[in-house]
Amino acid sequence: MSSDIQFILISEQEIAEKVAEMGAKINTDYQTQNLLIVSILKGAVIFLADLIRKITIPLEIDFMAVSSYGAGSRTSGVVKIIKDLDKELAGYDVLIVEDVLDSGMTLNYLINILRERHPHSIKVATLLDKPSRRIKDFELDYCGFVIPDEFVVGYGLDYNEKYRNLPYIGVLSPEKVKENCTFMEEFDS
Ligand code: IMP
Ligand code: MG
Repeated sequence: MSSDIQFILISEQEIAEKVAEMGAKINTDYQTQNLLIVSILKGAVIFLADLIRKITIPLEIDFMAVSSYGAGSRTSGVVKIIKDLDKELAGYDVLIVEDVLDSGMTLNYLINILRERHPHSIKVATLLDKPSRRIKDFELDYCGFVIPDEFVVGYGLDYNEKYRNLPYIGVLSPEKVKENCTFMEEFDS
C-alpha cells in the first residue's frame, strides 16, 4: 500500500466483483438497444476500461472532458466543456460513465446538455456515490459503492492529478491533503 494512503476503502478484489456485476446488469438492460457509453475524462477511464470488458453486447464509446469551477469548498455548478463528444447522440442509448457522484453539480449540468442533443435514452452509471455531499438531487441508474464523505483516490480518481494508477480506492493521509483543501476550487474530472 502507498504510504500516502491512510487506509484502503475498497480493495482491488471488491472493485473487480462489483464492476463485473454492473457489467452484467448493463448487458441485460441494453440487450435490444443502441448503446453508446460516454465517459468523463479523466477519472472514469479505469472504470470504463474494466466495465466495457464485462459487457458482451455491441457498444460504442466516446469521451468528454469537463472542468468544474466553484468558490471555496463548493462547486458552483458551472461546468466548462474542455473536450466535447465526437458523435451526434440522435438514435443512441447513452450511458454516462463517471467515477464519483459528489455534489451532483457536474452530472446534473452534463445530463441537461446531453438531453438537448436528443439521444434515444440517457442513463448514468457511477462507480462511487457520496450522498452526504449532494447539493443537486440526482438519481443514479447504476451505482457501484455508496461511500462516506472522505476524499478518495485510486482506480482513476486523483488528488492534484496523482494516484490515478493505484489499483484500489483509498483514503488519502491527512498530511497529504493540504490545509484549506483547494481541490474543489477548480478541478478536472
Ligand atoms: P460533483 O460535481 O461534486 O458531483 O463532482 C464530481 C467530480 O468531483 C468527480 O468527477 C471527481 O473528479 C471529483 N471528486 C469528487 N469527490 C472526489 C474524491 O473523493 N476524490 C477524487 N475526486 C473527487
Ligand atoms: Mg479529479
